[in-house]
Amino acid sequence: MKRRKGDFANSYIGHPVTDVAHMKVGLIRGDLFSHDTPLLVLPVFQGEARLEGAAARADELIGGAFGRARKAGDFKGKEEDFFLHYRSEEGGPTRIAFVGAGRREDADAEVARKVAARAVRRAESLSLTSISVHVPVSRMGGVEVGVQAAAEGGVLAAWDFRELKSTAESRSNGDGPDQGDDGKAQSSGEDAPPPLVNELWIHPDGESDGAERSLKAGAAFAEGENLARLLQWRPGNVATPAHLASVALSLAEEHGFTSRILGPGEMEAERMGALLSVAAGSEQEPRLIVLEHHGGEEGDSPIALVGKGLTFDSGGISIKPSLGMEDMKYDMSGGAAVLGAMKAIGVLDLPLNVVGVVPASENLLSGKATKPGDVIRTRAGKTVEIINTDAEGRLILADALSYVVDRYRPDAVLDCATLTGACVLALGHHAAAVLGNDEELIEEVRAAGDRASERCWPLPLWKPYRKQLESPVADLKNVGGRPAGTITAAWFLSEFVGDARWAHLDIAGTAYGEPRAPYHRKGGLGFPTRLLLEWVRSRVR
Ligand code: BES
Ligand code: MN
Ligand code: ZN
Repeated sequence: MKRRKGDFANSYIGHPVTDVAHMKVGLIRGDLFSHDTPLLVLPVFQGEARLEGAAARADELIGGAFGRARKAGDFKGKEEDFFLHYRSEEGGPTRIAFVGAGRREDADAEVARKVAARAVRRAESLSLTSISVHVPVSRMGGVEVGVQAAAEGGVLAAWDFRELKSTAESRSNGDGPDQGDDGKAQSSGEDAPPPLVNELWIHPDGESDGAERSLKAGAAFAEGENLARLLQWRPGNVATPAHLASVALSLAEEHGFTSRILGPGEMEAERMGALLSVAAGSEQEPRLIVLEHHGGEEGDSPIALVGKGLTFDSGGISIKPSLGMEDMKYDMSGGAAVLGAMKAIGVLDLPLNVVGVVPASENLLSGKATKPGDVIRTRAGKTVEIINTDAEGRLILADALSYVVDRYRPDAVLDCATLTGACVLALGHHAAAVLGNDEELIEEVRAAGDRASERCWPLPLWKPYRKQLESPVADLKNVGGRPAGTITAAWFLSEFVGDARWAHLDIAGTAYGEPRAPYHRKGGLGFPTRLLLEWVRSRVR
């Protein structure tokens, strides 16, 4: 990361700044209009009779030009609406932009995320790398919620995956060229992508002692999610199980986590027959990644985050159709989210004990691959008849879950996995499924998803579904047939958590794909990193 020395100390006296993100994120306190910026963005709600507060003052500053645009019906306040003015005066903002914020009644934390994200995207299209955004947080959940959300939206929007495009820009690792005095990026070639925004100033319409903490939390949550995205976007030949392990080791180094990486030998010793059976068809060795964050009291039992880290899912011998199979590089999205969450937990040094676990493997075919009809023995001792080698996620998770439950006696376990296509049919792309063995925990997780706007919705883990997993030759089958595929998959996992409190997120429909918000780009979305973080933080006593 490039950062010019001295920036912080000299230029921004009096403004709290956080550098936990790849970019600089700061709070503007005091007069918004004397803050020098190449672009000041102000949101305006739909159907407002008259401008208020900062927006009204900004319009005064530009001689009422925006008011005339509103009067002409050219700006209604809908989410896509945009008005841009170039000031001629020296000092303060060079450009003033108004963006639509939708209806005032609908304003919430997610609107703060979207406003900040749209502001960042506008800056990007103008090749500006620094912006300021006014956020009416009083309408968006209050100062603390609103500031966190705006920081999240801005930092998420300013991220892109550029490391594998061989332009001059990407060779400098996406940091972009330095800016000149006008805030404009210098010397991008004609077809180079615009530089990424690297400086975001947030101006809330209220004060709170917690504002700085919220700013830092928002930036850290988003940066954790950006790490998850980075790992998601990296293709299967880059983001191998060993690669995920080495990323985990760097996190451990950076944040003081205790780490433990198990390879095939250690897995043999642990009798992890399920994880090993999935890895059997691949030349890439599997890894079981374990990170421990010791932020709480010594003897306090930790909470556990477990994520499916299947770095490429071909289906194995029960091979998948080739159309769209490239998306199965995203089958490690759960593991990516756990590593992203651990990063933010480390950055914020949250005061509790957390263990993050990622079973990582490929699911390929070869003469050594597991076959339908094979029976394998899990770490927990239960035998499984493999009906379909494409139901591999539950196998690697079975061994990871029994390992974490036995070894750490966690207070609660939350796993996330791109586990079933059935989940996409049930809930589509706007909610993950949540299932588990403890109603209170499920409700905690659901509520955390609401706060993060990474939503999940419960499916029932009722006893009658269990019958679908009965096998004539082993303790269990690895698939329960077509009906209720998400529920039978969760039933399978539940067999390996003992009596631990446990909840499971099926993120097959939400982890990647088309953008659902202005802070997304098509591809890995980072979901559910911020959900995990909201849940972990809610567990701090
Ligand atoms: N990784 C897939 C699930 C998946 C499907 C994720 C679509 C994202 C989008 C998982 O390993 C899988 O193949 N599941 C099978 C299970 C079936 C064989 C019981 C499925 O859902 O088809
Ligand atoms: Mn599969
Ligand atoms: Zn899979």
